[in-house]
Amino acid sequence: MRFDVLTLFPGILEGYLGQSLIKLAIERGLIDVKLHDIRDWAHGKHRVVDDRPFGGGPGMVLKVEPVVECVEAVRPMADEPGRLVMLTPQGRKLDQRIVEELAAERRLLLLCGRYEGFDERVREILEPDEISIGDYILGGGEVASLVIIDAVARLVPGVLGDELSNRQDSFSGSERLLEFAQYTRPREYRGHTVPEVLLGGNHEEISRWRDEQSRQRTREQRADLLREDKNDRAQ
Ligand code: ADE
Repeated sequence: MRFDVLTLFPGILEGYLGQSLIKLAIERGLIDVKLHDIRDWAHGKHRVVDDRPFGGGPGMVLKVEPVVECVEAVRPMADEPGRLVMLTPQGRKLDQRIVEELAAERRLLLLCGRYEGFDERVREILEPDEISIGDYILGGGEVASLVIIDAVARLVPGVLGDELSNRQDSFSGSERLLEFAQYTRPREYRGHTVPEVLLGGNHEEISRWRDEQSRQRTREQRADLLREDKNDRAQ
């Protein structure tokens, strides 16, 4: 799986990509992440990438030319044209279903905005898939693109050591339940103990206990997930 990130601040991503699971996935050739600085496609001596909005108003707008030309230059850098994803608070809200949809692609081009947003003609010309990571405003799309890379990479075969951990995680599979409580050693810490059932080695009992935990947690914390699930099945 190949990711191309188009950004004004490649440095924001570098640190994250050089750590932990993502670093290993890159080293093992399971994913490939290429960073592209949109400023390299800016016009003129001063390489200006933003400008004041026509009609007035606060803030600056990301100019159309460097963005469109950056995408047009990056696309032919691999055989697969890939799916162009624009990170914006105006997009459809990311969830595990969308992550699964993105993971089915062989290449994603992740376009990160800054300032007050993109010149509207970026949308008209490139027709990207617009995705938001939640109903709040970030300083730019970089952190959002990392969220996508992280969540999608976990679904690439071989990235997680134990393939099972994928299916057991919250939100994966057909039932969208929160994860059950997990414990490791010591058995007791400051008076807090590990539930007896987990120490007994009866796998059927453990499985039942975990399932009930998941359901209870979901009911308490995210009852909306249970309603969503019911609606999905009715469709
Ligand atoms: N850029 C700024 N805010 C964002 C958000 N919530 N999701 C995706 N991209 C963004």
